[in-house]
Amino acid sequence: GAPQTRTPTGAETGAPATANGQQGAFLTTAQGARLRDTDHSLKAGPRGPVLLQDHHLREKITHFDHERIPERVVHARGAGAHGEFTAYGTAEAVTRAGFLAKGRTTEVFVRFSTVLGSRGSADTVRDTRGFATKFYTDEGTFDLVGNNMPVFFIQDAIKFPDIIHAGKPHPDREIPQAQSAHDTFWDFVSLHTEAQHHAMWNMSDRGIPRSYRTMEGFGVHTFRLVNAAGETVLAKFHWKPKLGVHSLTWEEAQLLGGIDPDFHRRDLYDAIEAGAFPEWELGLQVFPDTPEETFAGIDLLDPTKIVPEELAPVQPVGKLTLNRTPTNFFAETEQVAFHVGHLPPGIDVTNDPLLQGRLFSYVDTQLTRLGGPNFAQIPINRPHAPVNDMLRDGFHQQAVHAGVAPYRPNSLDGGNPFPAGDDDHPFVDVPVQVAQAPKVRANPASFDDHFSQVRLFWLSMSPVEREHIIRAYTFELGKCYHQAIKERQLQCLANIDPVLCAQVATGLGLPAPEPTVPLADVEPSPALSQVGRQWPAD
Ligand code: HEM
Repeated sequence: GAPQTRTPTGAETGAPATANGQQGAFLTTAQGARLRDTDHSLKAGPRGPVLLQDHHLREKITHFDHERIPERVVHARGAGAHGEFTAYGTAEAVTRAGFLAKGRTTEVFVRFSTVLGSRGSADTVRDTRGFATKFYTDEGTFDLVGNNMPVFFIQDAIKFPDIIHAGKPHPDREIPQAQSAHDTFWDFVSLHTEAQHHAMWNMSDRGIPRSYRTMEGFGVHTFRLVNAAGETVLAKFHWKPKLGVHSLTWEEAQLLGGIDPDFHRRDLYDAIEAGAFPEWELGLQVFPDTPEETFAGIDLLDPTKIVPEELAPVQPVGKLTLNRTPTNFFAETEQVAFHVGHLPPGIDVTNDPLLQGRLFSYVDTQLTRLGGPNFAQIPINRPHAPVNDMLRDGFHQQAVHAGVAPYRPNSLDGGNPFPAGDDDHPFVDVPVQVAQAPKVRANPASFDDHFSQVRLFWLSMSPVEREHIIRAYTFELGKCYHQAIKERQLQCLANIDPVLCAQVATGLGLPAPEPTVPLADVEPSPALSQVGRQWPAD
């Protein structure tokens, strides 16, 4: 019955845990036996063959041989930092999540990443950036696993292997590392037109951020928030950088890729070590939880759509400060495991089919990447809330669990983890109505509009941002070998905006096609432009 924390303490393991994992003044084997020499293997005479009995040699080399774990299948290249989040209390009316209560401070770990490059690829490539935050709340860990763009390429997680296969390097040559200069990428996004919105964000200046410190972050999906009275709203999460949103120019990104491929991680660590702590405000767009799950005609379950901030302002609910760099890249940045299902009471998922698939994918990949089912015991992944679970044994088990095997009901272990009078327990499922509907492999009709919001984004850009977008499409499509793919993408651009299409077509030396769908009649959203953006209002 007593909480069994998963954190292995000295009492559990028999050895005192130290911050750096090493103790004592002398070099030892992994078993703690003192070494006299680690520079020479044991040989039959100075010129003789090496002896198999040299356990120290074999231990040292064998461990080295296994130092690498698989890199993440996506978001392999990343940089992390520790910090804290302090809540303003402005979200208390809409969520019971304790870490959002006024004045509450919570420790966090954030990992920024590119999506498609390998672990050693350059920071400054044109790509989406990951912005994943682990809040170690005292009601359980909350992971906000977001990106620096508010929309995604696909509406259904079943397409995730497709978009990633299309975007990752070709299997024969293993090129390119930069995502967009790619026949398969443009083949996919021109055939699968729901990807056009995210593709334009990539072609915009957002695809080449100046610094992690100057990126916005987005939870992308709509979540369901539950307050203390059990009332619900729908909400989207936003991170707003205190320094404003800024990008590199394409020329800067190209030069930096050669001069300093570590530009973004260096910038992050230099800033923190100099005491210039990066800051973001967390904000919420809040919508009524109606049966239609729409707002202003926008389907809130469609992750290829935004809700313009002019229609639903982002309301600040707290502040994030990154104030400490990792001690060890592997232990922290490489081993951290985020999951969209790590939710405290007061924050719940919706039926967004992309989110639903993510709920499965992360833990599945981490079982391989982190070598079995006990990766929640790795220090960076340990909850700061007490853990009293029913999970036992398995590879790399660190805890020494006492008592009988966990099962419920149970009259032997003396404790009742569900005491009477605990009915106001915050961990209640929200009894959301599930539709009575036939089993189908289909999307709602509202998911079919693939061009309106791309046009909205384009029309919201300032002249210099439009110029950059035209040049990005021209450069990236210019790298394609197949003319039919360039032509198909030009057709998509014609359906978004004829001026954009004509300019890119000229750059490619191809004719500009006519639109095949009526151009959407949309209001620009000035908040989407980086030029003249004011955030926070002070
Ligand atoms: C990793 C964001 C969609 C599968 C990540 C990471 C981020 C992220 C930020 C890096 C986490 C880290 O730093 O360790 C997003 C966003 C999505 C999205 C914002 C859409 C809104 C998906 C979908 C799938 C998926 C649809 C699969 C169905 C993965 C996997 C990893 C990953 C397998 C690697 C996790 C690991 O190895 O620990 N994603 N992702 N993602 N994502 Fe997503």
